[in-house]
Amino acid sequence: MSLSAEGLRPDAPLDELAADKAATLLEQLAKIIAYHDSRYHATDERIEPEVSDAEYDALVRLNTEVETAFPALIRSDSPSRRVGVAVSSQFAKITHAVPMLSLGNAFDEEDLFDFTARIRRFLALKEGSPIEMTAEPKIDGLSLSLRYEGGKLVHAATRGDGTIGEDVTENVRTISEIPSTLPAKLPPVFEVRGEVYMQRSDFDALNTEQEKQGGKIFANPRNAAAGALRQKDARITASRNLRFFAYAVGALSDAVSDTHKGFLDVLSAAGFSVNPLTVLCQDEAELIAHYQQIADARPHLDYDIDGVVYKVNRHDWQKRLGQVSRAPRWAIAHKFPAEQAETILRDIEIQVGRTGALTPVARLQPVLVGGVTVSNATLHNEDEIRRKDIRIGDHVILQRAGDVIPQIVRVRTEKRPEDSVEYVFPDHCPICGHAAIRPEGEAVRRCTGGFECEAQRRERLKHFVSRDAMDIDGLGSQLIDLFYDKGWIKTPADIFRLPERRDEIANLERMGEKSAANLVTAINAVREIGLEKLIFGLGIRQIGQATAKLLATRYQSLDALMKACINARDNAHPDYQELIAIDQIGASVTDDLIRFFSEPQTASMIANLLIQTTPIPPEAPVQDSPVSGKTIVFTGTLEQMSRSEAKAQAEKMGAKVSGAVSAKTDILVAGPGAGSKLKKAETLEIEILSEEDWLSLTSR
Ligand code: IVH
Repeated sequence: MSLSAEGLRPDAPLDELAADKAATLLEQLAKIIAYHDSRYHATDERIEPEVSDAEYDALVRLNTEVETAFPALIRSDSPSRRVGVAVSSQFAKITHAVPMLSLGNAFDEEDLFDFTARIRRFLALKEGSPIEMTAEPKIDGLSLSLRYEGGKLVHAATRGDGTIGEDVTENVRTISEIPSTLPAKLPPVFEVRGEVYMQRSDFDALNTEQEKQGGKIFANPRNAAAGALRQKDARITASRNLRFFAYAVGALSDAVSDTHKGFLDVLSAAGFSVNPLTVLCQDEAELIAHYQQIADARPHLDYDIDGVVYKVNRHDWQKRLGQVSRAPRWAIAHKFPAEQAETILRDIEIQVGRTGALTPVARLQPVLVGGVTVSNATLHNEDEIRRKDIRIGDHVILQRAGDVIPQIVRVRTEKRPEDSVEYVFPDHCPICGHAAIRPEGEAVRRCTGGFECEAQRRERLKHFVSRDAMDIDGLGSQLIDLFYDKGWIKTPADIFRLPERRDEIANLERMGEKSAANLVTAINAVREIGLEKLIFGLGIRQIGQATAKLLATRYQSLDALMKACINARDNAHPDYQELIAIDQIGASVTDDLIRFFSEPQTASMIANLLIQTTPIPPEAPVQDSPVSGKTIVFTGTLEQMSRSEAKAQAEKMGAKVSGAVSAKTDILVAGPGAGSKLKKAETLEIEILSEEDWLSLTSR
């Protein structure tokens, strides 16, 4: 995701930005930042951030700058008002007694001096007067709030959206660095906050073991810690050796110290680990010196850190300073710059993805960046190569930030060797030789080989078994590659014939009887599968989970969907009209569906798949209910049922539920306290029902 609205240049001077452009920019930023937030905070260890921290921070900073210039345009869903992401439903929810905040960022010393100047202004202190502060490493893990009552750990919650987190108490009880009881002298209500993390050595050992077992490979220690914390089985959490650094106070029934440092000492005495690199500093110079010390220590630490946190030491000052939107005024995170290194670009190779996208990958002379040897970097697409004028043989500056795939920042053109070679982007797929086409206005060139392209076939199989599709336990991309190379699997149906090779699988290196048996069980377990998962698993371009669900609901079987898509090749056919009329499916998605189902191999691929599996269609919406096909908005308080129950009921009866009133709305159901939506519906002369009316209409 990137800024794309027409005429928007994120680097344009702000005073030149017209209000309408600013509004569009803020809208885009809200969307983009929310998207990156959801990836960063995702507890599914397979979802990784797409941008570096520095790029993310730049987006947040741009958002703040535009909001400062146009305060009237601050959105209700502005990133500056949110913390983290909403919680999922797997764990019970816990409302934090005191919200869990995020931190503002400083990227250089100037930002630090701005921060202390703001504090002095706020507290009406003289310029240059001392503010005692602590400096401690910013741990790259997951924050956790622990609540002790009467000295006993009663619950542990993740940050969630800052207000409501997930109850992970049972798993947290297995973490040896988290005491389950506290010394008697502490206040009856005692909340401690800190970071759960995994040591790098434990992370490496875990991945080695996972690889042996054919399990998931974790992208980084933070991902692995997130996965470990959210296990359904606490024994698995226990085996992952999670750690915890305590660093902040939550709700307390009585104060235990006047200062942050004093509180940390209380925590140490109570048996918590407090980071040993925490120090008390008297002025900015000491903070900067300690920042440097931590930066120097960073490569030698057995855990990931991404900056240094400065906190005002006096609790009374913290209280007076309070917070702005989601971050305290009394603390800031001084981030480390992304790590860079210079190396030589040896070659550019093309990788072909599931949908045929050709992605150029840089093959580099291996170089150490931030403790990791890097030999590949992404080059995104052909324009990127041209824009950065990257040639084979060039000396390039490589950047690796946190979790993200390494990137080439720039070329050291002054060092360009005479024999450097300009890269010519192929117009044919390097794997299958079919034409690779780049449609006008698109950044990506795609192989047109479809099923005939081996790379696409392989990637489609990997997608087919992935978590949101068939979710076959223990069948990851490495095994798919292995089985593919052995010629055992070519199409999805072949996966279901793997049980016939159970003995051969058991004899494979690193497998064995147990793993083979588990794999067979996992494969057999998904023969009955939701139709929407099967449709999603086919890996049709632009068909994500939501669209797959819509198609499954409408067509109820793969055959019916395929038939409609084949008929739809004729744009005058009613099936075409019907497809493009489905909400959220337009002409472009329909074209991709038609293309997929028109591939010569699709019909037999699906026929074979249906021999092996029994797709279960989702409940079909009622076609002839009084509300089928209508768009309904609920507003105000509903007294006899919850909003989600009402919504589910409406959808079941074939209605579409929307959150906003527009000319397309057919019915507004308004309970007590309805406000602007009701007014708007009245203006638009939309049918308005009370909850009673709604109930009698839908129970008919
Ligand atoms: S203090 C009100 N101290 O960074 C201040 N946070 O970007 C609360 N973090 O949500 C946070 N190390 O998960 C604090 N030494 C540290 C930290 C730390 C890591 C995380 C924490 C927080 C996030 C904010």
